[in-house]
Parts: sequence; structure tokens; C-alpha cells
Amino acid sequence: MNKIATTRLADMEICQILNGMWQVSGAHGQIEAESALKDMFSYADAGMLTWDLADHYGPAEDFVGEFRRRFRQLQKEALLAQMHFFTKWVPQPTLITKKIVAESVERSLRRMDTETIDLLQFHWWEYEDSSYLKALEYLSELVVEGKIKHLGLTNFDTEHLKIITGQGINIVSNQVQYSIIDMRPSIKMAPFCIENNIGLLTYGAVCGGFLSESYLGKREPNRFELTTASLRKYKQMIDVWGGWELFQMLLRELADIAVKHRVSIANIAIKYILQRPEVTAVIVGARLGIRQHIADNSRIFRFQLDDEEIAKIEAIQAESRNLMNVIGDCGDEYRK
Ligand SMILES: NC(=O)c1ccc[n+]([C@@H]2O[C@H](COP(=O)([O-])OP(=O)(O)OC[C@H]3O[C@@H](n4cnc5c(N)ncnc54)[C@H](OP(=O)(O)O)[C@@H]3O)[C@@H](O)[C@H]2O)c1
Repeated sequence: MNKIATTRLADMEICQILNGMWQVSGAHGQIEAESALKDMFSYADAGMLTWDLADHYGPAEDFVGEFRRRFRQLQKEALLAQMHFFTKWVPQPTLITKKIVAESVERSLRRMDTETIDLLQFHWWEYEDSSYLKALEYLSELVVEGKIKHLGLTNFDTEHLKIITGQGINIVSNQVQYSIIDMRPSIKMAPFCIENNIGLLTYGAVCGGFLSESYLGKREPNRFELTTASLRKYKQMIDVWGGWELFQMLLRELADIAVKHRVSIANIAIKYILQRPEVTAVIVGARLGIRQHIADNSRIFRFQLDDEEIAKIEAIQAESRNLMNVIGDCGDEYRK
């Protein structure tokens, strides 16, 4: 097993690959709690110690709470202290009051069995309703009170990230979709984040599993064959990006590069995103208790992509549609 490289986000030392928990929400196959918890221990044993979850990912926050309790019972506090659990608050469009914000954070604290949330990532559905600024003001007060260590965002575009930071609200990260087929963050988001020391936590690097040998040389799947919400989400992206034929060209190119490095297509797809200077860490979804790719994903830390390989990937990207023109900036797909 390769050692999992770490990086810094604010004052935290985190893994460069995060374990994503949307996959336990129920929309990606039936999750059995005991098997899922057992798998969480396998990730910990492998040194994959940073987790990404959300208040609305089914039992994800409860799994974290139970995982912590079991770790404490085993008197493994030292290892637990190296772990980080990043949750999200994704309120339905609603009136924002200090009480509602405080209660939501208290609920997450209780479920995750912790006194402070390492990173609370805030999502907002409608920019027309500017009360996201009120919500962030109340969340910032909870940072001062110690209920939240750091405040982040998810799926905010560059324009609204600028408005938020312009109000003096301290944001350490934004979580956005970023993959070989969705390079939108590189256009406006990346320069702004680099300049303002805001980390990008990215999802979608393996497109739900599409960027792997499983789909190389395969016919286009129909929607009934897409068995997870993640595959359904990224099939739509592939369609908008350039379609199945171009996607197969991309997979063939990635397969050639993968063979050279003796790694997998997924490894190349993750590495391509992780090598970008604006990216702090890549989140890879984990279907806990169903299937895991721990050993394979640890291989991303044993090679680098060179300029020639990157140019080959970019030559195929040049054939695709410009998603910034079709969809808009980061997160705009959630607001249409
Ligand atoms: N903020 C947001 O709006 C947002 C949206 C989406 C996701 N996320 C976060 O990002 C995480 C990732 O979700 P995602 O939807 O983007 O999924 P993803 O990471 O693109 O795909 C996860 C799936 O890829 C497959 N996979 C992983 N490693 C592999 C490997 N080495 N080889 C072959 N297949 C591999 C697995 O499929 P199998 O299980 O079938 O093997 C896994 O379930 C989520 O859990 C969540 O934490 C956030």
C-alpha cells in the first residue's frame, strides 16, 4: 500500500484524497450499517483519514458519530485526532434565523458525536435570495464560539465567492465538481482561490466510476443500467461534454497513459486533477460495505503526469464543448 500524501487546509493536515460519503445516502445501493462501519476502519488502517459528508447524506453523520465512539472505546484517540470530518449544511430555501442556523449545527454536532465541526461547508440554492449572507454571518459567530473550526462553501460560483469574501467572511474552501470532462473551475474559480488562499476540494474526478476500465470499449449504457445516482449524474455530464464516442477516445488515451505508469485509468483521472496547483484535495466516493478501491486509489501517490501526457489529455478536451458556455460557472447546474 502506498503512503497517503497529506496537505494543509487552514491549520489542518488533511489527506490529499478524501473519502466521500454521498455514496451511503441510499441512492447508490443499499448500505448495511455494520459493514459500512467496518469499511470505515479499513480506510483508517490505510491512512485515509479525511472524510467528506453532509447533513443530508442519509446516515453519514450518524456513521461518523458511531465510528468515533468505537475508536474511543479502542483507546485509539491519537489516531482519531489525526482524522477530519468535513460536513455540509444544505438548508432547503427557508427563512434564515440565528436559531435555525444554531439548531442545524447542534444537530450535526450531536449526530457526529463531537464538540466542534472541523469544516462546515455551506450550500445555498438561490442567489436571488441574499439571506445566504445572513446564514454565513451566523455561522461565523459559531466559529468564534468554537462550535465550528472552519467555514467552507460548496458549489458557489466565483461571483458569489467574491461577494462573500468581500464582506469579510473568512472562507477556507469551496467544494466543486472538477474532472477531465468538467474543467470549469480552472477558468475563473482557480485564479481567485489561489489569490485568496481558498482551497478547492473537488468531486467527480472519476465520474462515478465512468473514468475506469469498466467502461473502456463498452457500448453506451442506457439509463436503466446506471445503478447509482453518481453514474446518472455524470452520464449527463458526459452527454453535455461531448458524448459517448468522444468519451471513448478519452478513455483510450487515459488507458495508454495508465499502462505506461502501471496504474489504473481512475488513477490517471484523479492525478490529473490533484496535480493542479489550485486543488487542495480530491474527494472520491466510497460505497461503504459494498465496494472499495483503497489499494488502487493509494497508487496515485507513486507517479506524476508529465507535460506530454497532460497535452494528450488536453488535445481531447479541446474537441469537447465548453461547459462554461453551456452550463455556467461552478455549481450553476444546481441552480437551473
Ligand atoms: N458538494 C456536492 O454537491 C457534491 C456532489 C457530488 C459529490 N460530492 C462529494 O464527492 C464525493 C464523490 O462523489 P461523486 O459522485 O463525485 O463520485 P466519484 O468519486 O466520481 O465516484 C465514486 C465511485 O467511483 C468508483 N471508483 C472509485 N475509485 C475507483 C477506482 N480506483 N477504480 C474504479 N472505480 C472507482 C466507485 O464505484 P463503485 O462503488 O461502483 O465501485 C465509487 O463508488 C461524494 O461522496 C461527496 O462526498 C459532493
